[in-house]
Amino acid sequence: MKTDSPFLELEAAPRVRVWFDGQPLELPDGANLAAALLAAGVRTFRHTPVSGAPRAPFCMMGACYDCLVETGGRVQQACMLEVKDGMRIARPHEAEAAHAEG
Ligand code: FES
Repeated sequence: MKTDSPFLELEAAPRVRVWFDGQPLELPDGANLAAALLAAGVRTFRHTPVSGAPRAPFCMMGACYDCLVETGGRVQQACMLEVKDGMRIARPHEAEAAHAEG
């Protein structure tokens, strides 16, 4: 029976640099993006378009859409992505506002 925490594997992985809303983060290469962002201290992934309420990963299996982020020019579920070197990630609402302004 395996007893080691999967989070220990995250801690041991080599780090790559990504940007979340313009801030550099060093995340474990190939880790689940939602888990890695949570482990790095990111608590708000997006805001709801109507009320602006903050949202963060809930299901971690692609069903709730509370982990939506914009990366690679698309709004995607962070829990369905792997960390890759150089990723630029933004909160979707903020990304939309930035596009509207400029
Ligand atoms: S955490 Fe629910 S879809 Fe990603």
